[in-house]
Amino acid sequence: MAAEFKEISPNATAGEKLGNWFNNRFPSAGESLRYHVTEYYAPKNFNFWYFFGSLALLVLVIQIVTGIFLVMHYKPDANLAFASVEYIMRDVPWGWLVRYMHSTGASAFFVVVYLHMFKSLIYGSYRKPRELVWIFGCTIFLTLMAEAFMGYLLPWGQMSYWGAQVIVNLFSAIPFIGPDLALLIRGDYVVSDATLNRFFSFHVIAVPLVLLGLVVAHLLALHDVGSNNPDGVEIKGPNAPRDEKGRPLDGIPFHPYYTVHDIMGVAVFLALFSAVIFFAPEFGGYFLEYNNFIPADPLKTPAHIAPVWYFTPFYSMLRAITSEMMYALVLCVLAAAAFGVLRSRMSPIGKGAVVLGAAVAIALMLAIDAKFWGVVVMGGAVIILFFLPWLDASPVKSIRYRPQWHKWMYGLFVVNFLVLGYLGVQPPSPLGERVSQIGTLFYFGFFLLMPWWSRLGAFKPVPERITFAAH
Ligand code: HEM
Repeated sequence: MAAEFKEISPNATAGEKLGNWFNNRFPSAGESLRYHVTEYYAPKNFNFWYFFGSLALLVLVIQIVTGIFLVMHYKPDANLAFASVEYIMRDVPWGWLVRYMHSTGASAFFVVVYLHMFKSLIYGSYRKPRELVWIFGCTIFLTLMAEAFMGYLLPWGQMSYWGAQVIVNLFSAIPFIGPDLALLIRGDYVVSDATLNRFFSFHVIAVPLVLLGLVVAHLLALHDVGSNNPDGVEIKGPNAPRDEKGRPLDGIPFHPYYTVHDIMGVAVFLALFSAVIFFAPEFGGYFLEYNNFIPADPLKTPAHIAPVWYFTPFYSMLRAITSEMMYALVLCVLAAAAFGVLRSRMSPIGKGAVVLGAAVAIALMLAIDAKFWGVVVMGGAVIILFFLPWLDASPVKSIRYRPQWHKWMYGLFVVNFLVLGYLGVQPPSPLGERVSQIGTLFYFGFFLLMPWWSRLGAFKPVPERITFAAH
């Protein structure tokens, strides 16, 4: 049934009358704005880590707007693509700016999203009741990787071409379906015009649509359960203090408080973003690789093919899985199975299942080529993030109330991730290989052993209410 029309005084201003006219016809617009912005109560102790969610939204908008303008001049054709990008850079008015905004925006997206994920990691934002917010986030991360990977093919430079060739070839390592799957992705036996056309279509419309839908779901889910905060205290929980109107006492309305707070983040971000665009758009070959200024040549493989920096931690893990490393992994499976059988309170049937499972896993690990397991490890490094809410068994959410050595663990995790990232840009070397193998074991150990280590140590008491002193 339609809602009743609200009358307005004949003496109201023209603006008020227009507002009333609009509200009577579309009341849910105002309600959504109140629910999601003006009357969304967020914890009062957000710090700078909370800039990165809104910055991710800003970068998403920048990418879509600059992308629309790039498509006006870009030609998705293997014979024309490279020249059309050069044309945008040299002849299209402001084309260089639009292109650099888009290419720098891709890297900025990952910087912002990695920091946003790290915020969730240290404050336990993925834990109950925000598991779905986190799962939508992880799906966004995967989708973003696909978006960036396909976008990088479009300039049709040497790195576009050979990077895509290497990554798509990885799929052919999957037993049985691999070669057909790689063929399906490429649309040809090698990366070619057919590949460029389908990547273009996915990059400009299919994946962005999925991304937008996921971001909407991410935010709707977040606003249903409410934001976490640096203390990890629930401000909207059943026992949380509220005023007579039911508003959380430890919350403040998103507008104007966090709109203003976020504008400050936006200002700092735009200053840094502009500095890169105007002074170092290639960023020393990290944002736009030097080899990509050479047109794609299917007959000439570059000496060293490396993906863009944001993929390199995962690429390092892929390269770490050599046939020698497989023995180390077999040992890990043996150790896990022995632990399951000797130490846990499982039933004899359960223990039998563990032994059988381990035997099958080890047989497969020795039978199938290490290259395939490299792909599994690379994919697993992202997939494992989805399970974080169920891996973390710590009695508190926020790092603030965890034992001191947990902070060192998180610090080590970051250093390890950066080292893996660095090694991924370097050409392969015996030392690099060994370090990346240790790094891969640490990365997976961090997550897989979390149910055990996250509950160890002396935890500090979590306050009943948020601790915050206004500056
Ligand atoms: C396009 C990418 C993304 C956008 C636009 C986005 C947007 C946002 C926004 C605006 C917020 C609220 C403000 C804040 O907490 O900073 C938020 C919260 C959150 N996001 Fe994202 N996000 C994105 C990607 C991700 C990813 C990749 C993850 C994790 C894998 C993630 C996990 C979370 C979590 C757990 C929260 C709740 C934080 C809290 O309440 O403490 N997000 N996101």
